[in-house]
Amino acid sequence: MAPAPSSTSSAVVLNINGEKHQLTVDHRTTLLDALRERLDLTGTKKGCDQGQCGACTVLVDGRRAVSCLNLAVAAEGREITTIEGMAEGDLLHPVQQAFLDLDGYQCGYCTPGQICSAVAVIEEHAAGWPSAATEDVRPEAGPPPLTPDEIRERMSGNLCRCGAYVSIVEAVARAAEAHDATAHDGDGARDGSAKGAAA
Ligand code: FES
Ligand code: FES
Repeated sequence: MAPAPSSTSSAVVLNINGEKHQLTVDHRTTLLDALRERLDLTGTKKGCDQGQCGACTVLVDGRRAVSCLNLAVAAEGREITTIEGMAEGDLLHPVQQAFLDLDGYQCGYCTPGQICSAVAVIEEHAAGWPSAATEDVRPEAGPPPLTPDEIRERMSGNLCRCGAYVSIVEAVARAAEAHDATAHDGDGARDGSAKGAAA
């Protein structure tokens, strides 16, 4: 039975991968420990436990977050996505598929964090966010080309002790291309329907 809330713990409802989980957590419990130790969502990995390696990266409201530096109580009311929530049934997320196709891993320990980061990187880039590697940061310049240097900079918070960086960069680039193609297909579909409506 879950312990009752006290002066040092609270009952929270965490929305993870579209499912609500009720639990009572000590106020000092990190989101990472709540995921792994309380909810058995062990896909999110603990590396350094101090915000330096990116192994514990999850998405909070679509943005990257290192779950070892976030408290579980502060995650209430947010939408949390972990690696377990990326695939749709048997259909891998395009970023997962690209990592698989291009061997974007070796031991795999950093991979869930790399994939969560890459999913957000691709969205951030598509939304026009610059990075420290972007040469022209004027808004009118639009999104910079997602070059290997851009990808390396944007993924620099995720370390890989196996050094699989070359394949990781290739996988992110391929997934970004697929994302762009899907977005452009969507534009075409919208153009077509607009024309159809106007005809
Ligand atoms: S375990 Fe969180 S950043 Fe390393
Ligand atoms: S694949 Fe081993 S740490 Fe990255």
